[in-house]
Amino acid sequence: MEKEINGHKLKLFIRASEIKQKVQDLGSQITKDYAGKNLLIIAVLKGSFIFLADLMRSIDIDIEVDFIRASSYKNKMKPGKVDIVSKLEIPIKDRHVLLVEDLLDTGGTLEVIREHILSKRPASFKICALLNKRKDRKSEISLSYVGFEIYDKFVVGYGTDFAEQGRNLPDLYVIE
Ligand code: IMP
Ligand code: MG
Repeated sequence: MEKEINGHKLKLFIRASEIKQKVQDLGSQITKDYAGKNLLIIAVLKGSFIFLADLMRSIDIDIEVDFIRASSYKNKMKPGKVDIVSKLEIPIKDRHVLLVEDLLDTGGTLEVIREHILSKRPASFKICALLNKRKDRKSEISLSYVGFEIYDKFVVGYGTDFAEQGRNLPDLYVIE
């Protein structure tokens, strides 16, 4: 049966099997790159939680995990202002930090989170994103690990949402 959310048709974009393979490859690379180090993963809620769960289980070194949440208020008063709305529990100073995000679009969200983390002086800082939209970025964010490069599509599934729906879909879809 064809899937829809709020009357919008969903078109299959990346199958769960292909995502699984990609996530395993990312995990192997991260395992190699951080060998002998104690890694602290910081995942950006909510969209990254399914990606994080699979990625963590494909990393074969010691890791700790913490979560951060940012909110962007797109109204007339503060256009696109991003605020960090949840504090980290684990101290970051001198830690090797890998930020895990579902999707990078303008980079506005990650820019604010990155500055917050860097101000706490980690030993190293890298970003891993499952999806990169590669649009005109207002900020230069460099991604060390990327699952898939996508262009100008609105995606849903595998943790990402369309108006909070669709996070539970195992495959990734585009909204038609
Ligand atoms: P940015 O601040 O423009 O980079 O937006 C990044 C955040 O917006 C992502 O972490 C997602 O939560 C959300 N987002 C952007 N594009 C999409 C999409 O196509 N599907 C679902 N969420 C999206
Ligand atoms: Mg997100």
